[in-house]
Amino acid sequence: SYWSGGPEVTRLEKTIAAFVGRKYAVTFNSGTTAQFALMLAIGVHAGDEVIVPSFTYISTANAVLFAGGKPVWADIENHTFGLDAEDVRRKITPRTKAIMPIHFAGCPCADIDQLVKIAKLHHLRLIEDAAQSLGSKLNGQMVGSFGDAAMFSFCHDKVITAGEGGIAVTDSNSIYQKLQAIRQNYSFRMSTLTASLVLAQFGRIKQHIAARRKIAAKYHQLLNGIDGIRLPVVPTGGRHIFQKYTIRIDPRLRNRLADYL
Ligand SMILES: Cc1ncc(COP(=O)(O)O)c(C=O)c1O
Repeated sequence: SYWSGGPEVTRLEKTIAAFVGRKYAVTFNSGTTAQFALMLAIGVHAGDEVIVPSFTYISTANAVLFAGGKPVWADIENHTFGLDAEDVRRKITPRTKAIMPIHFAGCPCADIDQLVKIAKLHHLRLIEDAAQSLGSKLNGQMVGSFGDAAMFSFCHDKVITAGEGGIAVTDSNSIYQKLQAIRQNYSFRMSTLTASLVLAQFGRIKQHIAARRKIAAKYHQLLNGIDGIRLPVVPTGGRHIFQKYTIRIDPRLRNRLADYL
């Protein structure tokens, strides 16, 4: 019906696929359902392991659990909070099916190229959790276009939001077909109204990102050099969209700052 399968839904899918540089996109009613559908689409079953970062939003691990798989935590690297390729290598077992790095807070995962290589070498799927990072890039390449597939969220605190919503992208026709079937069977459809909201916001994505980067630069200028504060680090060749501006505080000052705020 028009309410859930209107032309805005198809238009949004085409728009995001083209923006990220992928062949296909499938809208969902949340980022979490898109992520869960991706786990089903790549065939995560009971006993399969998926390597996920120890620092992320809960759905990265839950999507694996919902599919019956086992999330296996790997560490993050200390500079940009991305999944650490070295630790991923240590966590691979004969049961590993996939690796799911996240692009944290708008920052591209610094080790993504290495993770792609590791996945190829071990015949694993690489699924990018790009929920927070629509529009961020590494070496000119959009996040969401490195792995076999990726997902983005349009929930309340993302750069483009419609209150709720999500989308999965891929170049694989087989993953695409499966995602469409799963969305229908589980009733994970995005409403046409939501798609219209996302499309309207997407028309201003360049301005949204430019404004965030400008504010981040201002924070940087004002906070730089203050003892006990470490500012966000952008990987070489990376374009951060600052979905969040995360600082690290000396543990001796952290509680005092929290109380003050
Ligand atoms: C890293 C990450 N993955 C997945 C999700 C899930 O998206 P949603 O809240 O739309 O279900 C989020 C949402 O906050 C997220 O931040």
